[in-house]
Amino acid sequence: MKEGLANKSIYRKDYKVYPWDVGQLDLHFDIARESTTVRTEMEFQLKDGEQAKQDIVLNGSELQLESLSLNGSELSGDDYVIDGETLTIPDAPAKSVLKTEVRIQPASNSALEGLYLSGAFLLTQCEAQGFRKITWFPDRPDVMTTYRVTMEADRAEFPILLSNGNQEASGELPGGRHWVRWEDPFPKPTYLFALVAGDLALVEDHFTTRSGRDVVLRIYVESENLDRCEHAMQSLINAMRWDEERFNLEYDLDIYHIVATNDFNMGAMENKSLNIFNSKYVLARPDTATDADFQGIEGVIGHEYFHNWTGNRVTCRDWFELTLKEGLTVFRDEEFSADMQSRAVKRIRVVRDLRSRQFPEDDGPMSHPIRPDRYVEINNFYTSTVYQKGATIIRMYHTLLGESGFQKGMKLYFDRHDGQAVTCDDFLAAMADANGVDLERFGRWYSQSGTPQVHVSDYYDSASRKYKLTLKQHTPATHDQKTKQALVIPFTCGLLTNNGEELPLQLEDETEAGPGTRLLVLEEMQQEYTFVNVPEAPVPSLFRDFSAPVKVFYDYSHAQLAILIAFDSDAYVRWDAAQRMAQDVILEQCHRHSKGQEMRLDPSLLKAFRGTLSDRAADPALLAEAMIMPDEDYLAEQMEVVDVDGIHVARKFIKSGLANELEELFAERYADLNDGLPYQKSPEAMARRALKNVCMSYLQDTQAGESLITAQLESSDNMTDSLAAIKGLVLMDSPMAGKALSQFETRWSEDALVMDKWFAMQAMKPGCDSLGRVRELMKHPAFSIQNPNKVRSLIGVFAMLNPTGFHAADGSGYAFHADRVIELDGLNPQIAARMASAFNRWKRYDESRKKLIKAQLQRIAAADNLSGDVSEIINNALRSDGE
Ligand code: BES
Ligand code: ZN
Repeated sequence: MKEGLANKSIYRKDYKVYPWDVGQLDLHFDIARESTTVRTEMEFQLKDGEQAKQDIVLNGSELQLESLSLNGSELSGDDYVIDGETLTIPDAPAKSVLKTEVRIQPASNSALEGLYLSGAFLLTQCEAQGFRKITWFPDRPDVMTTYRVTMEADRAEFPILLSNGNQEASGELPGGRHWVRWEDPFPKPTYLFALVAGDLALVEDHFTTRSGRDVVLRIYVESENLDRCEHAMQSLINAMRWDEERFNLEYDLDIYHIVATNDFNMGAMENKSLNIFNSKYVLARPDTATDADFQGIEGVIGHEYFHNWTGNRVTCRDWFELTLKEGLTVFRDEEFSADMQSRAVKRIRVVRDLRSRQFPEDDGPMSHPIRPDRYVEINNFYTSTVYQKGATIIRMYHTLLGESGFQKGMKLYFDRHDGQAVTCDDFLAAMADANGVDLERFGRWYSQSGTPQVHVSDYYDSASRKYKLTLKQHTPATHDQKTKQALVIPFTCGLLTNNGEELPLQLEDETEAGPGTRLLVLEEMQQEYTFVNVPEAPVPSLFRDFSAPVKVFYDYSHAQLAILIAFDSDAYVRWDAAQRMAQDVILEQCHRHSKGQEMRLDPSLLKAFRGTLSDRAADPALLAEAMIMPDEDYLAEQMEVVDVDGIHVARKFIKSGLANELEELFAERYADLNDGLPYQKSPEAMARRALKNVCMSYLQDTQAGESLITAQLESSDNMTDSLAAIKGLVLMDSPMAGKALSQFETRWSEDALVMDKWFAMQAMKPGCDSLGRVRELMKHPAFSIQNPNKVRSLIGVFAMLNPTGFHAADGSGYAFHADRVIELDGLNPQIAARMASAFNRWKRYDESRKKLIKAQLQRIAAADNLSGDVSEIINNALRSDGE
């Protein structure tokens, strides 16, 4: 990094109240692609009435300042100081009216932050600190004000002009131009501001709230996508109804707009009444989108809608508090999805995601608490930790307080803080006060990073019929924090007999036995629980519903796991037992492979799979989850030193071993599920497709595989089945794969979202020729390095979902990826930083790979003009190298 550009950390402890209240913000946009003029007028009122004068500090970035006036007089360069991204007007009077005029260049904005161009329309993205790329203003979430926004533009090029709130007025202007004025009655921080200008088509519906407000719902898309909005609209209506029923929360304006764009750094954004979505989370038709896409849309539409209360009405004091809105809103969208689909399946998917993304993050160079204490670039802290671990911590309040206690806490939170910018401490206080409980120790979850381990040991005494469980917690030191404290860990469990019956539970000091599931709350470093009247040495069913973000260690035998898989009442425990068994077996073969020994298929895994496949009673979606092998990255996390190729070979060996041993059962189940009925969107139909396609993914390793897959491809009327089939052909290296891929390409070449899938499945294909293929695909006309979805589908999938390709022993994958990070950094630092994080686990590989990666990290660090985004990631990764 060059001198003078050293990245400065920002610390949570340095928070200072902004000294001014800002009255209404009047914004005027004169819109054009190449150059847009932004004029503002706003009133500053000093909060502390004692003082006569105070500096006004504003934020701005890449703005061309045309004029600045204070209380009617134009300021010259001597009247203010610009230093980096701040502008200071010294000693402004206690009541000051500020006017500004700046120019910005949307068409050349490739960072997709601030005002930018997507296709033929303009739009904004302001979270976290993008408003400063639009105009000078205190760009921080604790400065809330009402907005009046006037836009003028050419009517033919920009017939639709949208901003937050209600449309108050509009009119014609000479020269084919027009103007529209929007007013948002709710004070809001800058990050929730949005505008959209362009030629968009719309789909409209209505929702009547419980108190009788009629809300107009509109989804704006490019006109060719009008026939793909139905599912998003239905999801929005379901979300609005659900939030009334479950949380007693109603929508508060007469309009709700969603705009879909192909060019978006994130998934979607909750701007007040004008959500902006990555088109991936809006557009779906059964022939273009998979079941996972449909479920993703439902979840993200819900998420952004739920922010209206958890985020917008009550927002964050500063960006360190991000999990206040994101953790809570993810919890709400998880609950929404659980209520709409299958609760058990949703839970398993959430746990898989947490374990495979958040646990490694917490163990790596970017480890941070859900409420970080410092950052260089806030965009790097929209992490799995803040989001997914944050949501788990909200879920723990729910587990400890119960639904009604939790809802009491939510009500108090809104009663106290509606219209304010607050902190995680305020949320905790509302939960504690509403329930009359002390949550002080629980609050450590906000400040402690790292994944706690809970080590379980047990002892059964047949003479006294007592069973003792000992729970010990230990959080290993992390990169950011050396010493760790005891946490409050809700730990739900049950006991099974060896016949799989659940025992009623009675602790030593209790007079009678209670139900078969018990919530233990581990608060000390070590606690013991003695159960009485236990007729035999039981099989402990530990950690039901995954009740905390921790790793649980207990030395299960395969016989015990088999009992849990077959009989436990908790779907998570059944799934986890199956995953543990598969993981044990694969890692053992990996070990044998590395010693040159022959690999073998474990009979207990075979037996468990036979049982699962023959289970006709359980939800097919749950059976599908249980039979999906732990992925290679997750297995890698379980090894001291990652054996990239060994894991790949062993996993493949076990999977094809199961497929061939159980071919008949797989084929029979597949045939049953492959009912030839026309596509349906119901959860039941999705569950059947899930199991069908898991069966197919095993059958792909058998003799009959290819013909079965081709038949599915030919008869499929939906993307879920078609994509599963083509992926099957690609992954099994079938001679039919090439033709299938090119037919797919011809059919969908004009469809950006479907082409993302086409890129991704090729980037995912393992083996030493992957890199050459990815390089070729970068030249494809549908690929663009400027488009985040394309970058994620090709470059991101290669680096993160193709371990044998990315980690090729000669280092070619690393060098390629480092080139992409450097290239992207010049265009879009946020996306570059996301890509750079693919190197974060580098310390876990063998010496030779470590050396190769380190050299690439150093090469990136030395690149010219590196952004703060990328340098924070790279410097952290390098710093974790012992210093
Ligand atoms: N507020 C975020 C979007 C955001 C984050 C915009 C960071 C700009 C910078 C939004 O509510 C969000 O969390 N979106 C998620 C999807 C969600 C379902 C977890 C996203 O975009 O990944
Ligand atoms: Zn969010």
